[in-house]
Amino acid sequence: MSVPLLDLNAQNLVLEDELRTAFERVLRSGQFILGPEVQGLEGKIAELVGARHAIGVSSGTDGILLALMSLGIGPGDEVICPSFTFFATAGCISRSGASPVFTDSCPYCFNMDVADAARKITPRTKAIMPVHLFGQAADMDAVMALAERHGMPVIEDAAQSMGAAYKGRKLGTIGTFGMFSLFPSKNLGGFGDGGILVTDDGELAGKARMLRAHGAKPKYFHKLVGGNFRLDPLQAALLSVKLPHYDGYTRRRRDNASYYAERLGAISGIARASLAESLCVRAHGAAPVPPETQIVIPSPYAHNEHIWNQFTLRVLGAGRRDALRAALTRKRIGSEVYYPVPMHKQECFANLDSSRVALPNAERLAEEALSIPIYPELDRAQQDEVIAAIGSFLEG
Ligand SMILES: Cc1ncc(COP(=O)(O)O)c(C=O)c1O
Repeated sequence: MSVPLLDLNAQNLVLEDELRTAFERVLRSGQFILGPEVQGLEGKIAELVGARHAIGVSSGTDGILLALMSLGIGPGDEVICPSFTFFATAGCISRSGASPVFTDSCPYCFNMDVADAARKITPRTKAIMPVHLFGQAADMDAVMALAERHGMPVIEDAAQSMGAAYKGRKLGTIGTFGMFSLFPSKNLGGFGDGGILVTDDGELAGKARMLRAHGAKPKYFHKLVGGNFRLDPLQAALLSVKLPHYDGYTRRRRDNASYYAERLGAISGIARASLAESLCVRAHGAAPVPPETQIVIPSPYAHNEHIWNQFTLRVLGAGRRDALRAALTRKRIGSEVYYPVPMHKQECFANLDSSRVALPNAERLAEEALSIPIYPELDRAQQDEVIAAIGSFLEG
């Protein structure tokens, strides 16, 4: 049986009739830029996460750029972000004219090592950008305390984590800005690119809305130099069909994660880290898995509501991750390496001072991380196939 990493048709085609109706509604409306469809989706997502303002944007990437532009971050400034993330986090900082300053990550929750972030603050630091990687919150109490100590804003890259929570608070609403991606592989996956930027600050929301449409208010009167960062009404209409199913998608992802944890965790050589506290492991200096562990399965912190955009294993030992991936591919099981090269090792950032420091956990995660199928429509037989393939890899 083949098990894809993601099966978009399994999610979308059951909604085909409603999607066609939404398409026809937009077609007949004749409104293809902003308007009620975009406002409608913005309102529903603001409600879902409990934000005062939601701004539909052309992609998650543009959402981050828009947040940076709205905060007036630019040349000469530094923004702190983790090195182990998707490129857009750091790329947008660079595109704003500022310099990304990279931190190491916790090897158990995959998120920003906030103690390392604290060491990297300089007089030029203008913002902190934690990433809630794979669907789980970064250590937001520590991030917010650090930002408050230095009086600087926090931009939450919640591209992969819409609806996830930290100590009961929805991600994206803890910092100054939060960004969600609507890229097809995200938990609310669109039909092309899209994103949502949220904030509780009315003034910043107004500025972001203006910058989203060339900095004009009214049309053709440009107060600021903005860009074209608008979400399409067609995208918004189609996503509005999927949004009522979002809780169900999340529930099924959580069920799938629990099933993996139970069944994979029972295989000899596979361990789940016990994340007792909110502080990341590096801060404690302890590695909470037995020494004979070959594969570490991901752990949600008890205070986090994880939404499992990815279920990411750490395959320990030189070359073992790639060997497992090859073994899964031979059995027609999809997997992906998120991410093979940390940001401080990227060619385009080679000239940055912050690229010249060792970030041992980020480097290690790039060699060990392997994401396996977790999408909501994955059935138990498919999961059993994945579990059996991993088990026979460890035996063989
Ligand atoms: C962590 C992270 N940041 C930013 C982005 C950018 O989002 P988008 O692909 O919608 O531009 C993504 C999505 O790919 C992501 O995973």
